[in-house]
Amino acid sequence: MNPADPTRIVRAPAAGELPPQVAAFKRITATVRLLHDGDEPQLQEFFHSHTPDTLYGRYGCLVATMTPERAHQLVNVDQTRDCALGIFAAAPGGEVLHAVGRYCLDPDGRSAELAFVVRETMRQQGMATTLLRLLTKVARARGLDRLWAQVNTHNSDMLGVFRRHGFTLAADREPGVVRAVLPLQAAAPPAARPARKRAPARRRR
Ligand SMILES: CC(C)(COP(=O)(O)OP(=O)(O)OC[C@H]1O[C@@H](n2cnc3c(N)ncnc32)[C@H](O)[C@@H]1OP(=O)(O)O)[C@@H](O)C(=O)NCCC(=O)NCCS
Repeated sequence: MNPADPTRIVRAPAAGELPPQVAAFKRITATVRLLHDGDEPQLQEFFHSHTPDTLYGRYGCLVATMTPERAHQLVNVDQTRDCALGIFAAAPGGEVLHAVGRYCLDPDGRSAELAFVVRETMRQQGMATTLLRLLTKVARARGLDRLWAQVNTHNSDMLGVFRRHGFTLAADREPGVVRAVLPLQAAAPPAARPARKRAPARRRR
């Protein structure tokens, strides 16, 4: 998808949207915040920590490199229409990035595609769940209709997170892929029936 596509609808962020927040996970406490310019080295280090399985789960193929230019693009998305979050832990040399969750607005401006990746040593402690919860909150505040993702049929961790979060899971057109969809807007209440006109009372004969 081309992020510079002019047909994409630009949305203003909700007021005070997503200030950095400290979250306690099972094994560490870390800061969850929007990615921004300057996060490129952390993103590159994070990318180079991925195993082939992780790369395949995240990208659907074995992406081999994270060039400085690509890292720059990925941390400098337009956060008023897309949303890219990272979970950072304090470390002696600075922050270390342990997880990324993002959504990318579709050309229709009504829906967005989700993607997650969590460092292998940091899994099973709620990082993806926390990122999904925040991304859903932002998408709802911006009035999006739905969030969706394509997930490999064997990716039980990701499917479990989506299932517990209320996504519907169905076979995608692409073989071996599940399409997960979360509608965000409450269904409209059934249109109120117009009050029945009372038939004029029959005259008694
Ligand atoms: C899929 C992926 C993002 C999940 O990340 P994660 O941070 O481990 O996910 P969570 O911790 O939120 O949830 C995973 C499991 O941990 C459990 N969990 C969550 N919080 C927990 C806690 N505090 N203590 C113990 N377990 C916990 C969840 O219940 C869930 O269990 P389940 O799968 O049995 O239902 C991660 O495995 C990953 O990066 N995979 C490779 C990339 C990928 O496949 N991306 C998906 C592309 S859309």
